[in-house]
Amino acid sequence: MRDVIAIYPGSFDPVTNGHLDLIARGARIFDRLIVAVLQNLDKAPLFSARERTDMLRQVTQEWSNVEVDLFDGLLVDYVRRRHAQVILRGIRAISDYEYEFQMALMNRRLEPGVETVFMMPAEKYSYVSSRLVREVAQLGGPIDGLVPALVVEKLKSKVH
Ligand code: PNS
Repeated sequence: MRDVIAIYPGSFDPVTNGHLDLIARGARIFDRLIVAVLQNLDKAPLFSARERTDMLRQVTQEWSNVEVDLFDGLLVDYVRRRHAQVILRGIRAISDYEYEFQMALMNRRLEPGVETVFMMPAEKYSYVSSRLVREVAQLGGPIDGLVPALVVEKLKSKVH
């Protein structure tokens, strides 16, 4: 059987323990998992594309079948370029569902040959998002346990 390559796309501004939990699950299921960082975000990111990919590379070192890359433009174009068959996305709660459902169907319309696969991160991360982590860090609150230790340090130096 051919190797199944999955793309896990996102902003990762910054990577959280919820993202890492999903990467661990994806790395177990798929032959190769490419974590694809969206380069140009609508809103100015806290971390540059380079910083976001560097952090991801450092915290995913333990998985030999996980790669971190940057992408821009349409996700399905990138998926085609990388010869991937799957887009992996995480669903934490019902509130994620509508947006994810719309994106999955739009991506299917744009490229019917690619399947979106949803996985659930551990329930202890169901409320963790990059946006809330950034907000808490910027307001001086504790973020230990929500993001990898390396990201805690990067966030601290970024907001001070
Ligand atoms: O982690 P995020 O910010 O929810 O990730 C959103 C992302 C990067 C998956 C989405 O914005 C995306 O795929 N952007 C690329 C542009 C694109 O293909 N848009 C049409 C998607 S239906």
